[in-house]
Amino acid sequence: MKTDNSFPATRKSPLVGSIKADARIASELRRRVARLAPGTLLPSVRELSAEFVASPVTVQRAMSQLAREGLVLSRPGDGTYVAERSKESPRADSSWQLTVLGPATDPIANAPFELPVPGTLVLGSGYIDVSLQPLSLLAKAARRAAANPRAWDRLPPEGHPELRLWFARDVGGPARAEDVVLAPGGQAALAATFRTIVPFGGPILVESPTYFGALSVARSLGLKPVPVPLDDEGIRADLLEAAFASTGARALYLQPAFSNPSGVTLSETRRKDVLRLAERAGAFVIEDDYARDLAFGSAPPAPLFRQGGDRVVYIRSLTKSTAPGLRVAGIVAKGPVLGRLRSLRATEDFFVAGVLQDTALELVNAAGWGSYVQKLRQTLRERRDVAMRALSNQLPRARLQRVPDGGFSLWIELPAGVDDLAFVAAAARAGVSLTSGAPWFAAERPGGFVRISTAGANATDLEVGIARLAALRL
Ligand SMILES: Cc1ncc(COP(=O)(O)O)c(C=O)c1O
Repeated sequence: MKTDNSFPATRKSPLVGSIKADARIASELRRRVARLAPGTLLPSVRELSAEFVASPVTVQRAMSQLAREGLVLSRPGDGTYVAERSKESPRADSSWQLTVLGPATDPIANAPFELPVPGTLVLGSGYIDVSLQPLSLLAKAARRAAANPRAWDRLPPEGHPELRLWFARDVGGPARAEDVVLAPGGQAALAATFRTIVPFGGPILVESPTYFGALSVARSLGLKPVPVPLDDEGIRADLLEAAFASTGARALYLQPAFSNPSGVTLSETRRKDVLRLAERAGAFVIEDDYARDLAFGSAPPAPLFRQGGDRVVYIRSLTKSTAPGLRVAGIVAKGPVLGRLRSLRATEDFFVAGVLQDTALELVNAAGWGSYVQKLRQTLRERRDVAMRALSNQLPRARLQRVPDGGFSLWIELPAGVDDLAFVAAAARAGVSLTSGAPWFAAERPGGFVRISTAGANATDLEVGIARLAALRL
């Protein structure tokens, strides 16, 4: 390997004392390495630590970071060299794959899965931002979990009994620990449930609008989501009855509380209607209680599962009230469907990683959990009020469909003639990311809608973001 002493050094740059010193050294080294030929020998850690006036440990950490990124190669006892850069392979003609793969999902339908563009004001996130996440509780829970050998052991597909018991108690009513199967997040729980209940190609009724991810799962499984419109009381009973009759569907997917994106909570009368009509149709109700911890009132509405028993398959994820990475959800069900779900989960990925299950368990049993959730609900309520004020002051022509009593979704109808996709594209150019209404409808959309989420933006960001939307001149 060629040795080159021309490694460009800069003036001494004291970085001592900075917590981020290794990150800053790494960024400087990255810049230098980019200008050097592969195979160039880098100065030793001792030389670099003298140059940067940083400890050898700090410099070593920066070097290790570059090695992880594949930019440098360390040869123990020899030195660290600039790594070979991967060569651009000539663009192969892979068009044959299109004929094999066949039709693809419309990219607009899956657009909300994409991460927001860095630097934009995030008014479209379905997850709470880092300022709200219980990071220190999570870190403590994860440390404790990881230190216990059972976190790394093989587990039953349905999950740890203690965590299943926590989910069962949380749902209440007739739920027992034995009725719970764990899944790695609500999305995986939806996929397993849809797959278990609805045969390939079959219809599944959904409230309209509904969670785009549920539509996406249904379509990916070859199912046909059939939209049933809603009003301020929730899914319309007359249309639900007609949809069961005309489609013969054996499942209805529903978010009875603070539905995402509409913000609707099912009224007492409609809850009874839903259970009665599902029973008459011989169908399951798949209840997605995604925002159970995000109620603004004293308590969230009781799960439908408590009234519906074996007719309802209940899904409750922890990500919405913690962090997107705590991918743990409970599916609660009674009867043969439970065994089917258990087998499917085992087939899919054996079991949810023990370290995540134990982290979740440590977290929900931590002394600070209750007060954290309380504070989160209060903050989301304040954010909702700030966003609503900003909307009515700045965007009076946009019609908020209803005031949600929980969750983070504000569902907004744009003035007639304004295309939601064009509006969202213009917002992105103005540095605001938000979600267009299109992906939330299973069929034709009845107008131009957008969803503003208060989960990923603080009060100031909401105000600034909405002011930028107003500047687009609706
Ligand atoms: C209504 C609803 N259900 C389920 C999910 C899935 O969430 P996760 O897989 O993070 O639990 C989401 C996420 O956006 C959601 O909004």
